[in-house]
Amino acid sequence: MTTAHAYAREHAGDFKEQLKDLIRLPSVSTDPAYAPQVRRTAEWLVAHFTGLGLAARLIEKEGRHPIVFAEWNGAGAAARTVLIYGHYDVQPAQKADGWLTEPFEPVEQNGRIYARGATDDKGQMFIHVKAVEAILKTRGRLPVNVKFLIEGEEESGGEHIAQYVNSHPPELRADVCLISDGGMTRIEEPVIVNALRGATGLEITVYGPKADLHSGMYGGSVYNPLQALAEIIARLHDDAGRVTVPGFYDDVLPLTAEERAEIAATELDEATWRAETGASLPWGEAGYSLSERLGARPTLEITGLAGGYHERGFKNIVPAKALAKISIRLVANQQPAKILALVEDYLRQLTPPAVRLEITARAGGMGAALVNTATPMMQAAINAYRQGWGAAPVFKREGGSIPIVSSFQSVLGLPVILMGFGLNSDGLHGPNESYSIEMFERGIATAIHFLDEVAAL
Ligand code: BES
Ligand code: ZN
Repeated sequence: MTTAHAYAREHAGDFKEQLKDLIRLPSVSTDPAYAPQVRRTAEWLVAHFTGLGLAARLIEKEGRHPIVFAEWNGAGAAARTVLIYGHYDVQPAQKADGWLTEPFEPVEQNGRIYARGATDDKGQMFIHVKAVEAILKTRGRLPVNVKFLIEGEEESGGEHIAQYVNSHPPELRADVCLISDGGMTRIEEPVIVNALRGATGLEITVYGPKADLHSGMYGGSVYNPLQALAEIIARLHDDAGRVTVPGFYDDVLPLTAEERAEIAATELDEATWRAETGASLPWGEAGYSLSERLGARPTLEITGLAGGYHERGFKNIVPAKALAKISIRLVANQQPAKILALVEDYLRQLTPPAVRLEITARAGGMGAALVNTATPMMQAAINAYRQGWGAAPVFKREGGSIPIVSSFQSVLGLPVILMGFGLNSDGLHGPNESYSIEMFERGIATAIHFLDEVAAL
């Protein structure tokens, strides 16, 4: 009899080609122009799950991207149920952003697949689809019941899935939630993420004159909105790298000596940080290590700035308006709505009376998530890595966010296991995102072991 692991090895080539088909669909959720492609991707997944013998369907909501739901309940009511979450949407990508190849035409090179979504999160999510396939095809049944919940708006805030989870649908009943949407630094040191940051954000526009003005005729007499915006933004951090918004840190729980020691055990060394970022010198909140700044402290980041003339040559104007996008990362115990209100108040305070500030968009807020590592489910995950990956995992706090995780914990009461199968150097959200095929294959082996370990608990 072929084992599930042997099946996965024998079909590794097919799995990879299927993943490339999935990646070719440009499911960019943040840009409404891609909505039809997002839907096609969801439909592709439903057809794929159906082909594997799962009951699959779309969960729809007017004006939102569909969620893919697929389940296999043949293990019976007495068996455990694993809810597998992932996202099929991706960040925007255009060749001109610095891609060496077409972002939605996967290219294989040096054992890696280069394409948008290759690691975040199509490739990592697909690991579990293929693990389920390998077991079903060789044993005819899974050791546990499985539910897949794959959303299409993770990269744009996850509003649809949040509403869905908050309505307590009975179909989400499970014993554990499994997610692969993160990374490790080195392939020999697999990581289970034990903290994710929360996130919120906003877009502001500063308005000045009623239209662009001749900078000779009026420059020096009107407050230039680009200058005003630059001044506002420059005041959001002090010289010690701290966010100056009054009250910003009030609810942050100070790190205990034990927590600091735990973080230090996997401290990001500066050389690795430099290799990953390509930046010359670290920056950030004084008094905290790099890993603490990333995993355990809140931050405020300017993610976009626009206004005035930025094509070739010069155009002598005082622009009518200027725009900035701000992203805020939160840690445990900080409330997104409260922080957003504090930031808005402070921005208004900083705005000179000669210009007008408008909050032109707000990102939905989601809280941070802390994971209890002392649970039987976590032990199952550790055992799975030992057998499937060939190394025991370390626990690490992560700076990124997966919006729905805190709802899985607080609304559904589920233990969450964050088994990331990407590398931090995969270039997620940037040009030339890539995914290691070896990690895809070792991930499938680990995922098979996890389902067996959960059944054996
Ligand atoms: N997969 C990432 C988050 C992530 C990155 C987790 C690295 C662990 C390690 C996810 O797809 C993502 O980028 N999420 C967004 C959410 C935001 C829109 C609220 C993020 O973190 O910016
Ligand atoms: Zn992701």
